[in-house]
Amino acid sequence: MERTFSMIKPEGVRRGLIGEILSRIERKGYRIVGLKMLQLTPEMAAAHYAEHRGKPFYTELVEHIISGPVVAMVIEGPGAIAGMRRLMGPTNPAEAPPGTIRGDLATLIGENVIHGADSEASAQREIALYFKPEELI
Ligand code: RTP
Ligand code: MG
Repeated sequence: MERTFSMIKPEGVRRGLIGEILSRIERKGYRIVGLKMLQLTPEMAAAHYAEHRGKPFYTELVEHIISGPVVAMVIEGPGAIAGMRRLMGPTNPAEAPPGTIRGDLATLIGENVIHGADSEASAQREIALYFKPEELI
């Protein structure tokens, strides 16, 4: 059993896609073991995207993720880290196949509606950034 961190980005919340995205995750068979809606501060966004600091798209990335409320979640299931990445599809929605969240619900790389941890280490780091152990069921 594996746990991963995922987040519905501000455009996903703005567009009313919370239910659609949670539904896909639940239908897959994963268990949502932590869930909260929150507004990130610039400091939280910097911590979240620390690995991208210095990249050309970093400033835009941080400004975008703090542009409105997000939905943070912890998802549990066999192979959930790689499984969620497959469910999300490739980073660029233009390359994401139909059937994936990004392929079906997004068109722009900067507005690809969902984030997902990309490794065991990222999953653990990101879960700890957003949730206290007692908030997970
Ligand atoms: P995420 O972290 O959001 O799950 O996405 P990812 O692993 O598939 O992509 P990553 O390389 O971690 O990039 C984080 C987010 O930055 C935006 N991005 N923009 N303009 C660009 O070239 C560019 N590259 C990445 C995307 O919104 C991506 O989700
Ligand atoms: Mg990433």
